[in-house]
Amino acid sequence: MMTLVAPSILSADLLKLEEQIKAVEAAGADMIHVDVMDGRFVPNITMGPKIVEALKRITSIPCDVHLMIEEPEKYIDKFAQAGADILTIHQEASLHLDRNIEAITAHDIKAGVSLNPATPLEQIKWVLPKLDQVLLMSVNPGFGGQKYIPYVSGKISDLDKIRKAGKYSFMIQVDGGINHSNAKQVLDSGADILVAGSAIFSSKLGLEQAIKLLKYPSP
Ligand code: DX5
Ligand code: ZN
Repeated sequence: MMTLVAPSILSADLLKLEEQIKAVEAAGADMIHVDVMDGRFVPNITMGPKIVEALKRITSIPCDVHLMIEEPEKYIDKFAQAGADILTIHQEASLHLDRNIEAITAHDIKAGVSLNPATPLEQIKWVLPKLDQVLLMSVNPGFGGQKYIPYVSGKISDLDKIRKAGKYSFMIQVDGGINHSNAKQVLDSGADILVAGSAIFSSKLGLEQAIKLLKYPSP
């Protein structure tokens, strides 16, 4: 399968957001990753549904919304109405995970569940057939520019094995600390979608080359 790249606009220049989104789209980005943080689930506050609504007016690639918020059930409808194409919630923030997944798919959009680095795959075992995407965090969520946690590679390959054994169709997305040096081994472990913030928006190579090197990483 072809690697998909999802630039995280957390690391974009917010004053040049329109220009940067159009540039990553032109450079081959497959979706725009929007990191929503509430200052409770994670120690940082970022953006809300308004940004998603605005993005939808200027880009035609899917809007991939990563909710790092407590009680995601309170905001699922708002993000879906704003235009999210993929909505990912955290298992750790969901008391009623199955109900929340159902609330997302009721909008006819893709449902994802994310796990923090230390959360076992076992937590989502029973809902895997319902998911379009599993997002494995490879840093502790809250900030861009952190270092990839090496043990997550084992978790990616375990999930890939579970996917093959169960013939599931979900995509494996990996988020945090992805760069040109580790992209190849993350993909080889079984990832389909690489989320990257600083490796794209802070790259000296320029957006186009930065995205290309993630899609086709050299060994
Ligand atoms: C972290 C966010 C990530 C982050 C990725 O909490 O979910 O999407 O912005 O940024 P980098 O690629 O810089 O680690
Ligand atoms: Zn994210």
